[in-house]
Amino acid sequence: MTAEILDGKKTSQKLLQQLQDEVKGLMHKPILAILLVGENQASKIYVNAKLKKAAEIGFETVFKNFPADATEDEIVKQITEWNNDKTITGILVQLPLPKHLDEHLILNKIDPIKDVDGLTVHNTGRFYSGQNPFAIPCTTRGIIMLLKEYNIELEGKNVVVIGRSNLVGKPTAQAFLYENATVTICHSKTRDLESIIKTADIVVSAVGEKIVNGKILKNNCVVVDVGIFRTPDGKITGDVEFESASQVASYISPVPGGVGPMTITGLMFNLMNLYLIQTGA
Ligand code: GUN
Repeated sequence: MTAEILDGKKTSQKLLQQLQDEVKGLMHKPILAILLVGENQASKIYVNAKLKKAAEIGFETVFKNFPADATEDEIVKQITEWNNDKTITGILVQLPLPKHLDEHLILNKIDPIKDVDGLTVHNTGRFYSGQNPFAIPCTTRGIIMLLKEYNIELEGKNVVVIGRSNLVGKPTAQAFLYENATVTICHSKTRDLESIIKTADIVVSAVGEKIVNGKILKNNCVVVDVGIFRTPDGKITGDVEFESASQVASYISPVPGGVGPMTITGLMFNLMNLYLIQTGA
């Protein structure tokens, strides 16, 4: 069989069109503030894509790019300024930060009600304990939206999430738990990864290495590829060997054009949610 493509690009266009229509009816435009530290090329590309999409939808944006040697104090000062600015709806600090900066300290300076990534300890605490976070991480939100658009049932499914980052692995596992799936989180120290993947009805891979292929997948499983990196010859690829996996899976997300656009979609929906919460709408 050949798997059906989980088309993140098309799904994103459809969902964002609906959001754009809602934004048209708002009294004030929500404002997304993005802070980038340094010159990481991949981060710059992601940030530009977020700013561009936000503007297309009708949101306003503010962008600050600090030099790679910026101090914690300088960054915290900017975040505090945005926290206190009533016109700013959401604040996003692009990750990764340069090594000399304390990521947790910086993220936790964001006012939880403006935490558009859902990465503050306040929102993660609310999320992991079932207390309605103001936002959850954008990739996680995007993945669940994508699967729901394709009417893929999640309840009772065996989901294997490969990767345990705060940005993707852990929140995605948590989101599947909320959908009443049975969730396994695998990581670099997991023993016999392949036999665990073989049990999965849904595989989410967020590693950044080519580790999933058709041989280790269960027939008819759903494959969500979060990995994105360049091969030595410069091609953009994901964690999954697409050719072999698509012969076994029932659905598969491609790279590019799968989870990437859905992450931005998750961000845009998160911003709208924050606006609605803040304005009591
Ligand atoms: N870097 C890669 N993905 C993300 C994301 O979703 N949010 C932030 N803040 N940084 C990222």
